[in-house]
Amino acid sequence: MAAIAPSILSADFARLGEHVREVEAAGADRVHVDVMDGHFVPNLSMGAVVVKGLRPATRLPLEVHLMVTDPDKFLDGFVKAGADSLIVHLEVLPDPRPMLKHIRGTLGKKAGLAFNPDLPVSRVEPYLADIDLALCMTVFPGFGGQAYIPASNDRIRELRGLVNRINPACEIEVDGGIDATTIGAAAGAGANVFVAGTAVFGAKEGPAAATRHLRELAA
Ligand code: DX5
Ligand code: ZN
Repeated sequence: MAAIAPSILSADFARLGEHVREVEAAGADRVHVDVMDGHFVPNLSMGAVVVKGLRPATRLPLEVHLMVTDPDKFLDGFVKAGADSLIVHLEVLPDPRPMLKHIRGTLGKKAGLAFNPDLPVSRVEPYLADIDLALCMTVFPGFGGQAYIPASNDRIRELRGLVNRINPACEIEVDGGIDATTIGAAAGAGANVFVAGTAVFGAKEGPAAATRHLRELAA
């Protein structure tokens, strides 16, 4: 079953609660929160205070995508604020196992491992047994509104093969440039969780209709 995760990076921050309630009513499955530190990626976005503010506004799980160089510093704060899952980047962790164990064990949350479009998919394989979600970036992270990298389809297919063999319960999430023209191929290649920012909150037809449309196309 496909899951749609609207990214609030592209929402109107003056109307954030309203926007999130709108996509929740339209059947979104979780809310994707993009955290950028201006170091791992060349942009700043939001911190735990936004998760705290959103927590009472929605019943949807809040997943936090940590595009930061030092995720260790921030995990507790996001959990206290109400995060349900924490996604860290493999690029900044020589051995992600202790952190993944900490997230799932001590913190009792879902753990995700993200990786950029230039990281060989085989680098993720050793950790697939230790995660709930593998986040295959389909753009270089840092900004919303970028074009989906077509070579991602082959990478998703490769990841799907590994996940099926090692940990079939692990979700495969794609993030970046997901819209009505790209979601079908990503789903066909084996992704089952779809982050969409611009295609939801920037949609002419509005976030609710866009959420429903993406879900149909991913099914
Ligand atoms: C990329 C972020 C994405 C981004 C997706 O840096 O991790 O989650 O918000 O935005 P769109 O859907 O606009 O490509
Ligand atoms: Zn993201």
